[in-house]
Amino acid sequence: LPATLLCLVFGYLLGSIPFGLILTRMAGLGDVRKIGSGNIGATNVLRTGNKKLAAATLLLDALKGTAAAAIASQWSIDAGIAAGLAAFLGHLYPVWLFFKGGKGVATYIGVLLGLAPVMVLVFGAIWLAMARITRYSSLSALVATAITPIALYATGHGNVAVLFAVMTLITWIKHRANIQRLLSGTESRIGENG
Ligand code: G3P
Repeated sequence: LPATLLCLVFGYLLGSIPFGLILTRMAGLGDVRKIGSGNIGATNVLRTGNKKLAAATLLLDALKGTAAAAIASQWSIDAGIAAGLAAFLGHLYPVWLFFKGGKGVATYIGVLLGLAPVMVLVFGAIWLAMARITRYSSLSALVATAITPIALYATGHGNVAVLFAVMTLITWIKHRANIQRLLSGTESRIGENG
């Protein structure tokens, strides 16, 4: 148990670092929570117009999940799963931002990279195809996260598939405002400010 607790705390602390907020502040762009969707993730950082910063946000928000999962996996696969979940929850509910964090997509991909790296190719292919067709970042993530647990289950990933089913559910709940905007046709597309 102490080892699991350590993994949870370690994962949470890593996951709770809000890179989107930190990078946009460092770049002198003000508070990313005051523009666009108000989210701290890469999609909203892109609405500042700074593509490099958006890419850096995506990368760092992902890699914190990868680091948590991969490092804890050295102990056991279940430790990796615990740390990955904790990092994901840390990103969504960071104590530093009064538990108002991001929507989880980058960190989801990062944890996937740490626990089932080949699946990142599946996720990436789905996301890119959807983004190309629809230009909705949110919809692309909703579809990719819906398919990922099924793909993990089908390829015998056991507990990792369960972890991603849980993370998908939470991701969808966090995207409920996006889902409403998608349904009403008011969601902003990639490259639009909204
Ligand atoms: O998956 C992308 C999602 O996080 C959308 O972000 O800023 O459009 O709500 P945003």
